[in-house]
Amino acid sequence: MKSWTFLLGAQLRPGGRFAEAPGDAKLVGMRVSVLGLGYVGLPTATLLAATGHRVSGVEPDAARRNSIAEGRFFAEEEALQPLLRDALRDGMLTLHAAPVPAETFVIAVPTPLGPERRAVLDHVWAAADSIAPVLAEDALVLLESTSPVGTTRALEDRLREARPDLRTLHVAYGPERVLPGNLLAELRRNPRLAGGTTEEATRHAVSFYRSFVEGEVTGTDAATAEMAKLVENSFRDVNIAFANEVAFIARHHGLDPFAVIELANRHPRVDVLRPGPGVGGHCIAVDPWFLAEGAPDRALLIPAARAVDAAAREEWLERASALCAAGQEVICLGLTYKADVADLRESPALAIAEALARRHPCRVRVVEPHLKHLPAGLREATLEEALSGEAALLLLVDHAAFRAVPPERLNGRVVLDTRGIWRNV
Ligand SMILES: NC(=O)c1ccc[n+]([C@@H]2O[C@H](COP(=O)([O-])OP(=O)(O)OC[C@H]3O[C@@H](n4cnc5c(N)ncnc54)[C@H](O)[C@@H]3O)[C@@H](O)[C@H]2O)c1
Repeated sequence: MKSWTFLLGAQLRPGGRFAEAPGDAKLVGMRVSVLGLGYVGLPTATLLAATGHRVSGVEPDAARRNSIAEGRFFAEEEALQPLLRDALRDGMLTLHAAPVPAETFVIAVPTPLGPERRAVLDHVWAAADSIAPVLAEDALVLLESTSPVGTTRALEDRLREARPDLRTLHVAYGPERVLPGNLLAELRRNPRLAGGTTEEATRHAVSFYRSFVEGEVTGTDAATAEMAKLVENSFRDVNIAFANEVAFIARHHGLDPFAVIELANRHPRVDVLRPGPGVGGHCIAVDPWFLAEGAPDRALLIPAARAVDAAAREEWLERASALCAAGQEVICLGLTYKADVADLRESPALAIAEALARRHPCRVRVVEPHLKHLPAGLREATLEEALSGEAALLLLVDHAAFRAVPPERLNGRVVLDTRGIWRNV
């Protein structure tokens, strides 16, 4: 397979205009359609509009469109809201239920994990089918949804089949690396990849990203960009699994895994990550399967890492469950998939707390300072109640509010600390 990687100068595309003198050319004023206004699509559409592109945001979910229009969606993303408000007020960002004609289309729709641990691409194909009728000659279509290797090529085939009349169509993959909680800054500054199905598509994609991204934009081919994106999150997953395996073995020997890791990390070329109750979020728990599905016979470490992750969840659930079975109340601290966010997607903490509460409904309560309401089936406790009562504590998420609790306040209590914040208790 042909592969190319290079950095390109910005280029003028039809419909755009130079923001500066052609020497440091930057595209602005293009008509861009962003499909899917979620974690990736909404900040992208907002930043594009703030940069001077005319953006149509396509979101089939009417409730989500309304909450975006009213400033309720992603209210916690403080940097995003003023830009979004301005873009909507000035008409630089308009909201639609279905695509309208544009020069560039950005597809940022969900790609969930299916029951057979394969990517479900139905939303990508639906988005492709919806833009096919409004594609014009020389259009650029960018897929940003995390996808298995080969998806961008298949997307192009699908569009060409739907529109055999188009002589020129550019299709590229532009993976996203945003971290929820700081979406706008991440989107603006992170380095990016742009991989076309042809060199020309790559050039157009790189120019497009350079028009609104400050981070370095590297051009490559579509399949390399697709795989690089999957490798990033799989790297994290495999390394966290190693940390959890180290923790299993350390605890087997009666050792403190955090102390073992801290000492091992004094080696200048060793950097073991921190163990915990498992990984969560939209990406790290999901993307490794997308990588493995491309060559299942060659993927040995990835499924093993996923199995270690499941074992970590199981271990903490069983340890807490044993306390409940012995008559102890257990208060779970934290539900979200990582510290200091309100995001519950694929959260191991939530899975553990829910499973524990199902087994011992009267013996389990939860403190989650980042949620106004707990998911159904969970009973709430305050942090003060957790610290002053006699219940055992199961620390699942290292929120700042919990890290601020001095270990002395926990003296004499049973504490299961999955994240190692109170190691000296
Ligand atoms: N959330 C992240 O931090 C993150 C980071 C990198 C990559 N990604 C990837 O980006 C993609 C989007 O993720 P997200 O977190 O933004 O998802 P999301 O669920 O927050 O938003 C996706 C939106 O797409 C809409 N949608 C569904 N079908 C559509 C269609 N046919 N046309 C237009 N809109 C449609 C949904 O209604 C939803 O509002 C996924 O592939 C994800 O893996 C996400």
